[in-house]
Amino acid sequence: MTSTLSAPTQLKSAARVHNLRKSYGSKEVLRGIDFNIAPGEVVALIGRSGSGKSTILRVLAGLSGAHSGTVEVAGNPAVAFQEPRLLPWKTVVENVAFGLNRSPLSWEEARQQASALLQEVNLPDSDDAWPLTLSGGQAQRVSLARALISEPQLLLLDEPFGALDALTRLTAQELLLRTVAARNLGVLLVTHDVAEAVALADHVILLDEGEITHTLQVNIPGPKHTRRAHPSFGAHTAQLLEWLEITTPA
Ligand SMILES: Nc1ncnc2c1ncn2[C@@H]1O[C@H](COP(=O)(O)OP(=O)(O)O)[C@@H](O)[C@H]1O
Ligand SMILES: [Mg+2]
Repeated sequence: MTSTLSAPTQLKSAARVHNLRKSYGSKEVLRGIDFNIAPGEVVALIGRSGSGKSTILRVLAGLSGAHSGTVEVAGNPAVAFQEPRLLPWKTVVENVAFGLNRSPLSWEEARQQASALLQEVNLPDSDDAWPLTLSGGQAQRVSLARALISEPQLLLLDEPFGALDALTRLTAQELLLRTVAARNLGVLLVTHDVAEAVALADHVILLDEGEITHTLQVNIPGPKHTRRAHPSFGAHTAQLLEWLEITTPA
């Protein structure tokens, strides 16, 4: 087993995965997984339930037990899930500052950084709000701010927009694109939504029963936030849907 955490200067990729295999007991759930994520690049992972998407994400997060193959990750990756998982007994700014719990900063410094990040995710007046008073979209932005506060080079997102309504989801996706560009983050995005994958990703990886069956390079010219309006958007989503049908039993 090789699993290395590298300093930023040592690694040109945000993540590098080579021949990753993983089993739970006698059941092999990942086989021969290979991919790279460059800084500033979004890689989307799609596949039906149980195909191994979350397992790949947990391996990259260092939250999974033994695996084989090479997994290299720049810095300390940050994870955000579909449910924002905020602590209800802490205020919004405290929840964000909590993402720094392993840093030597004073509480006041951490709080100031958290407050600045809340501005960055368009929640400038919510420092002292309680998580239970937030909308789903607001809670998701707090979760993003908490992930960013440790200054990760790799962001691991497990269906982060799955619980949001359609319009809120579009706003959240735009915010993610801006954040990724501004911070040159590598992102692994697990999603069920082929349109979301094509709108946000540089490459889309299709996973079926623990193996990569297809990879789509998204070649839509222009900035990502204009992709949905481009004539070739539909051809990209259609390709993914076709592959998903091929790999999904009737
Ligand atoms: N902690 C675990 N123990 C045993 N089996 C697991 C565990 N976590 C996931 N699995 C199995 O690994 C496979 C992949 O799961 P997962 O990565 O959660 O899939 P996905 O996220 O694509 O739905 C599934 O067959 C699942 O049942
Ligand atoms: Mg999952």
